[in-house]
Amino acid sequence: MLETNVTEFEKELNDLYDAFYDTSAEKPSVYFEKISANKLFYLVKAEGINDEYEFSLPPLSPLKEKSLRKRWALLSLYKSLSKQSGRTLPWGSFTGIRPTALAREAVESGEIKPFATTEFLEKEFLISHEKALLCTKIIKNQKGIIKNDHLVDFYVNIPICPTRCAYCSFISSEMKMAEKILPNYLEALVKEIRAMKELMHEKALIVRNVYIGGGTPSVLEAKDLELILKELSFKANEFTVECGRPETITREKLDVLEKYGVTRICINPQTFSDTTLKRIGRKHKSEDVFEAYSLALEKGFKVNMDMIVGLPGEKAAAVRKTISTLLELYPNNITVHTLSVKRGSVLDKAPSEIGFKNLAKILSETENALMAAGYKPYYLYRQKHQLGGLENVGFYRDEDICQFNVDSMEESSSIIAVGANAISKRVFSIENRIERQPNCKFLEDYIARLDEMIERKKTLFEKF
Ligand SMILES: C[S@@+](CC[C@H](N)C(=O)[O-])C[C@H]1O[C@@H](n2cnc3c(N)ncnc32)[C@H](O)[C@@H]1O
Ligand code: SF4
Repeated sequence: MLETNVTEFEKELNDLYDAFYDTSAEKPSVYFEKISANKLFYLVKAEGINDEYEFSLPPLSPLKEKSLRKRWALLSLYKSLSKQSGRTLPWGSFTGIRPTALAREAVESGEIKPFATTEFLEKEFLISHEKALLCTKIIKNQKGIIKNDHLVDFYVNIPICPTRCAYCSFISSEMKMAEKILPNYLEALVKEIRAMKELMHEKALIVRNVYIGGGTPSVLEAKDLELILKELSFKANEFTVECGRPETITREKLDVLEKYGVTRICINPQTFSDTTLKRIGRKHKSEDVFEAYSLALEKGFKVNMDMIVGLPGEKAAAVRKTISTLLELYPNNITVHTLSVKRGSVLDKAPSEIGFKNLAKILSETENALMAAGYKPYYLYRQKHQLGGLENVGFYRDEDICQFNVDSMEESSSIIAVGANAISKRVFSIENRIERQPNCKFLEDYIARLDEMIERKKTLFEKF
């Protein structure tokens, strides 16, 4: 157990403490104390450990000062836990989601010089050289970030799937549960989209990228997809629709997507082992991916494919087969996820055959194989409970970046988001701050409280 008087960062300190130990039995009693308010003294006590850390805060704005206090508290605890456990973590003392945004902001605020991001991440957060270098590559590959508060991205959420996958960490209903209220959901969505179009017209907001995600939007029938798509005539630069489950893809649906200007779709194998697919409750086979991909190529869509490293029962050979098949298919984008498992969940009891220690190696091997084949990393994020404290990375080939993914991961653009569990975001670039407005998580509440959510979004984008 971790005991601390540093209440303002208690959550982050506990996250870091948890990241060091795989099981509760391994967890030692640790006491983390802040001694003085002016000069920063941290004291870490555990069996065999009695460490003191001292930092001097320069005069700074309250926000910057808080961020430094947090950085140093976590760094102190990290050093002592690393000594206590004999372990290091790939992402060091960094407990957040977006390490690349952290480095980019340090450059933008003048804290560090451009091209010093690798050293900054290694020195200030003890992030491993390999991961710090990966972040630097990603920052260099993110070319399309534009700071213009009148450019927005538009997101539509369809949190419905054919069936539920065993590992899934997203809120989504199975179609057989959602079927009854689907017409009401679609009607509510259309109403919200129209209200947002009025708002954008009033405030002179221009849509740059559109993304329909979920869930599995392609679970909708062609006529229902059309109902939504015909509302989204924004003349955007890019338009993605997630069609993750290949068995939901038909020629008729792709015709509709093409008709309404969709440029990119996701077809997600996750793995090319049919045995694993069955084990994780995906209802497709590798063959379905090949068929759906051929249809998509015929139509000229750009294609993203998701894979997951660390799936239950998979050894290194299965992951290697997935990579080599992906490289043969050669989609425009490949997104590599590390399995995230909620502690105590069904999957937690059947951890990856690879073993947590080798997982980091296999993930590096996967990322390196993609880079050797000409793919470049362009966004990265971490999730809670990710095996080995690892990460998810998006790759592209040629110039085929999905700018929406960069904008949402780097929080570099406002996003108007509609649908259940969609979170709208307003970026105030001059003030360097962000405000969020979440919609209700579940379909029924979303339908019942739609007007309230529309009003809240109007308030979010009220002043310019
Ligand atoms: C929001 S999901 C939607 C994609 C689509 N419904 C599908 O399953 O193909 C996006 C991606 O997140 C990844 N994902 C979902 N749950 C995960 C988990 N527990 N750990 C790691 N990745 C996960 C999968 O690769 C998935 O394709
Ligand atoms: S299809 Fe995708 S979103 Fe739906 S349950 Fe499976 S992983 Fe989750």
